[in-house]
Amino acid sequence: ASSSGQAHSFRRKPVIIIVVGMAGSGKTTFLHRLVCHTQASRICGYVLNLDPAVMTLPYGANIDIRDTVKYKEVMKQFNLGPNGGILTSLNLFATKFDEVIQVIENRADQLDYVLVDTPGQIEIFTWSASGAIITEAFASTFPTVVAYVVDTPRASRPVTFMSTMLYACSILYKTRLPLVLAFNKTDVAQHQFALEWMEDFEAFQAAMRSDDSYMSTFAQSLSLVLDEFYKNLRSVGVSAVSGAGMDAFFKAIEASAEEYMETY
Ligand code: GTP
Repeated sequence: ASSSGQAHSFRRKPVIIIVVGMAGSGKTTFLHRLVCHTQASRICGYVLNLDPAVMTLPYGANIDIRDTVKYKEVMKQFNLGPNGGILTSLNLFATKFDEVIQVIENRADQLDYVLVDTPGQIEIFTWSASGAIITEAFASTFPTVVAYVVDTPRASRPVTFMSTMLYACSILYKTRLPLVLAFNKTDVAQHQFALEWMEDFEAFQAAMRSDDSYMSTFAQSLSLVLDEFYKNLRSVGVSAVSGAGMDAFFKAIEASAEEYMETY
């Protein structure tokens, strides 16, 4: 709305942080870390779990999809496999999402952040109609940021790094929301290599050449595309296990929320 010169109708608070990431990247552990950090810093965080299939959560969720939709029963009732069951559960929950927004709006004055955990299989959220409905519902009401959790040790090869970044790029263009890359597991592998590759595409191309010759021409063209994409995001190194990088992460979220207020 600010582009038309009018004051936007969004509230400044709370900021919604939608946590997405490949299976095993550490979303749930990271979310737990965010919850601990907010509690220790006396920041008020509200937690929403959107993974209907998770068995146990290490944190207490204020709103939990599992209280509304029974994933195993959905599988039985609609004769679905695990992924179909998760997707259908999310669809069912999305039909009631206005109620979730209402609950958050009622508490908005007391909340700084809403932390949103998403299903283990990333595409169930990022490529589904219900994921889009939920994201839209948030983004039309509150400043909303997507945090993409990257498994840093697994992204240390140029080829895997590139596919990870291409996925991040597709999320940015699909959601059109500010994106923060959280390079997780820095207790195992530092993320300096990633920063270097993102700042200097020639360094990345050199790494690419020494790693995998097969797709090199294609990969080098893609690295130029990604170079443009990197200008649109913020990245921080974090460790969900040690707690490193939390202040930097929240700074990046705040800057992204500012960007959201100016742009949307
Ligand atoms: P799914 O939802 O099951 O796809 O996984 P997830 O992305 O929620 O990841 P989860 O939090 O279950 O973590 C996956 C594995 O990575 C677990 O074994 C975690 O202990 C481990 N892990 C997560 N964060 C870190 C980290 O910062 N450092 C290290 N060393 N391990 C981590």
